[in-house]
Parts: sequence; structure tokens; C-alpha cells
Amino acid sequence: LYVGLDVGTTGVKGILVNEKGEILFASSERLSMITPQPAWAEQDPLSWWEAVRKILKELSGRSEEIGGKIRAISTSGQMHSLVAIDNTGKVLRNAILWCDQRTYEECEEATQILGGEENVLKLVGNPILPGFTLPKILWIRKHEPEIYEKIAKIMLPKDFINYMLTGAVKTEHSDASGTVMYSVSKMEWNEDVLKELKIPEHILPEIIPSNGVVGRVKPDVAKFLGLSEDTLVIGGGADNACAALGIAVVEPGDVMVSLGTSGTVLAPTKGKEPDPKGRVHFFAHTVPNTRYHMGVMLSATYSLEWFKEKFLSEDYDRINDEVEKVPIGSNGIVFLPYLNGERTPHRDPFARGVFFGISSYNTKWDMVRAIFEGVAFGIKDSFDILKELGVELNNVRITGGGSKSKVWNRMLADMTGLRIQKPVVDEGASYGAAILAVSGATKEDPAKISKEWFGVKSYTDPVFENTEVYEKLHEKFKKLYTSLKEMFR
Ligand code: XUL
Repeated sequence: LYVGLDVGTTGVKGILVNEKGEILFASSERLSMITPQPAWAEQDPLSWWEAVRKILKELSGRSEEIGGKIRAISTSGQMHSLVAIDNTGKVLRNAILWCDQRTYEECEEATQILGGEENVLKLVGNPILPGFTLPKILWIRKHEPEIYEKIAKIMLPKDFINYMLTGAVKTEHSDASGTVMYSVSKMEWNEDVLKELKIPEHILPEIIPSNGVVGRVKPDVAKFLGLSEDTLVIGGGADNACAALGIAVVEPGDVMVSLGTSGTVLAPTKGKEPDPKGRVHFFAHTVPNTRYHMGVMLSATYSLEWFKEKFLSEDYDRINDEVEKVPIGSNGIVFLPYLNGERTPHRDPFARGVFFGISSYNTKWDMVRAIFEGVAFGIKDSFDILKELGVELNNVRITGGGSKSKVWNRMLADMTGLRIQKPVVDEGASYGAAILAVSGATKEDPAKISKEWFGVKSYTDPVFENTEVYEKLHEKFKKLYTSLKEMFR
């Protein structure tokens, strides 16, 4: 048996699968976020570990009940978030998360030191953005020098879990990509970036393949968790890359739309060149010799969760039913889903959410529909950039919490004019992690396993009359941001 874990922002999830990809048991734990200041976001890495321990204990108990043995564990995790430990292995401070926007100045300074953005794109394949790992290190160096001095190693969230399981500090290519200290075209740490910014290479983990072996579970940990001491811990990957692997988005032409807290559009490529304008990210995939372009919205389902928590008492089924009754265009309301800034397409940490065009005629359901439409327009922005880059967009597959909504499936099919596939198994990134666990233990190609495990549950085909209507509304959506841009600062 195999375990796939996902350390997300809102929770940790674990699944127990067999070698055919059948899910035998799933378990999850919720996590909360610490917000010391507006637009800051932190979590205690030990709270992830606590959640992982509970889940692994449960999964090992289940595997024993059914007479199986866990052969390998692999983990996917939130990207970019920075974990720092000292030379005794102690966590030095809370992790600074991917959605934290505090490092704006550090991004500008680092970009300047590295000779401007064009050069940065050449060096690492991405611009330096507040969400990425490098500026978080620079922020600690500037604002918390006493902590910076003690840093022995930095890690990404899933690497920290692998470290707690095995004692080995390693990362793999898909997560190294999101640090902007790694050359996505050469697939190695970028020495020029490290030298220019005076970051010692020894604080970075060794990079292994996503299906490479990190180590075996430490004896005391194995005993505590009820695992065998020869349980393998496999590299794992960035949550978006693992989610894509989990639904067989592994080749050019495949596309993943992930509607989670963040919203992403991920398209694999065999190319080695990033978007010359840096609007979509360019990272290494979890399958060999493959990279991907990815547009990222910071507040996708989070926009709806936020509104629901603050203003609605209805459940998601009712919300979907009510939103379906409101006509396209939300009776005149436009919502910009930039609650905590936006990456694609604006790269603007100062942008904020907007409801525009409210009249006395409107109801709350018009506002809620506007949120659904605003999020879908944000996803459409990424599609438009990918099209402009000449990326093939054929097999569009949807995943994440928001993929359960019929309304969002319909909107995305109509807006993009493309058929949307809903996978049979929708376990998100943990399923991709499970594929890496199997691949690491058996040495089978992860892309091959993912295709064998994948099936389509249902399709949503576009209604082309709606595509035209949305086209006009999308223009208005884009113009609204341009008109307000200066006022966000
Ligand atoms: C991707 C990104 C988010 C996180 C969510 O660049 O920042 O999608 O990976 O965990």
C-alpha cells in the first residue's frame, strides 16, 4: 500500500491507495492561518507535522486492519512557503506562506541587484514576486537578523514533513522551481542568483527527482506512527504539479484548472522558455523532462469562502442553486477577486476586491453570482495568456473544491469555449503524491501510472451563444481593474 499526503493551506489530507490507484481510506485535519498584520500569512510548521502524525497514525491503523503494509509515503505541499531550521533542527520562526504579501520591497531590490527583470527571467525563468521563497529569505535577513544568522537550512513545506519523517533535508525540482533561486531551464540551483544576493548555497537542500528516495522513516517515528522501519519516503512535489499529475495533466495539450483557495491554470510543455513578460509562472513538473506554464489567482474559492463566512448563512448547495437562477452578467454587478492582491495577470500585491455597478435592483444573489463570474474571468485571463504563448489547450481537466460546483464548470466551459472534463477520482494533490510514492518504490514512470489511473467522470460542453456574451463582460472586467489600478496604492 502507498500513502499520498498533501500539506495545504487550509488543511492536511492523507490517502491510502493500492497499486491500482484505488483509494482505500482518506483522512484530513484542518489548519488555520496566522495573520499578524494585514496581507501577512504564517503557519507553524509543527502544526503541519502534528496533523500529518495524526493522519499517518490513522492510515497505518487502517492498513493493518486490512492486512496490508505501507511501502512508501510521498507528500505534496503548498508551494513557495518558507521554513527555516537551525543546526539542531529546531524551527526558527513561523513559516511565511505563499499568499503573504510583505516582501514587495525585497522583490524590487533583488530584481535591481540581478540586473532587471529581463535578466531575472533569463536566470530563473520567473520574475521575483512577493509570494516566492527568495524574497522571504531576504525579508528575514533585513528584519530579523538574529533569526537569519541561525538559519542552517531552508525548506519548502512538504520537505519539512519529509525531514521530520526521515531526518534528511532534501527538495525536488517542482518545489525548487518556486523559490526563484533555481534555474528552471537548467534544473539546478542558480549560482549567479545566490552569489549576487549573498545567499550561502549550503542553506539550500539537495535537489532530487520528485520520485527519488528521501530516505526511510526514522525508527522512533516509525514506532510512534505504527509504520515499518523500511517505509520509503519519496520526494513528492509542489501541490499544483502533484494535482496535475493526479489527473494525468502530464503532456503538452493537457490543461489543469484547479479551483482551490488559489486558482491555477497549468499547462505542461516540452519547451524551456518562460513567458517573456513573466505573467504566468514557469516551473519544473513532477514527471521527467517536462515543465509547465501556470497562471495563478490568489483568491479563487477563497473569494466565495470569505463572502460566505462574513455574509451568508446558506450552504454551498443552496448557494449554487440561487446563483444558477441569476442571469449571465449578474444583473450588472462586476466583482474583482483581488482580496489579497493578484499574481496573474496583474502581478499587483496592492490590488483589492471590488464590487462594481450595484443598483437598488440587486439582491445578494447577484453579488454572489458576480463572485463566481469574477473568479472565472480571472481563470479566463490565464487561458488568454497561454493562448497568446502558443500553448496547446486540448484536454482541460478541472479539480479542487470549486470543481464540485456545476455553475463554475458551466461558466468555465462557456467562457473558454472549451470542453471541461471532470475526473473520476478527485482527491487533488494527495493523489499525485500517491502516484509519486508508487513510482518511487516501483521505478515506474509517474506519467504512465497517472494515465493508467485516470478516468473522466463527466464533461461540460460550451454553449457558444454564452461565449459571446461573456466575451463582452470580460472586457468590462479587465477595464475595471485598469481604471482602478492607481487607486489601490
Ligand atoms: C502557486 C501558489 C499556490 C500554492 C497553494 O504558485 O502559490 O497555488 O501552491 O498551495
